[in-house]
Amino acid sequence: MTWVFTSKTRFYLHEDETLLDGLLRTGHDINYQCREGYCGSCRVTLTASSLPVTYDEPPLAMLEPKEILPCCCKVKGMLHLKEVH
Ligand code: FES
Repeated sequence: MTWVFTSKTRFYLHEDETLLDGLLRTGHDINYQCREGYCGSCRVTLTASSLPVTYDEPPLAMLEPKEILPCCCKVKGMLHLKEVH
């Protein structure tokens, strides 16, 4: 089970649910467009995670250290996101 902590709440992801879909399901205000890792509009900043965030394929969007793409990243364990409301 993956637990997600944001500025607004905490929730767990459903089986096979992307982090983006989990954030939208729980009422977070998050931008997105392509859902494929190239536009970068969904990027959020990770403040902590119990396990590494991975991708099936390296995303094309440019990312700063600690930034992740909720539309296509693979998360496990527990993660905290910065300033996601
Ligand atoms: S929605 Fe485009 S990179 Fe996530």
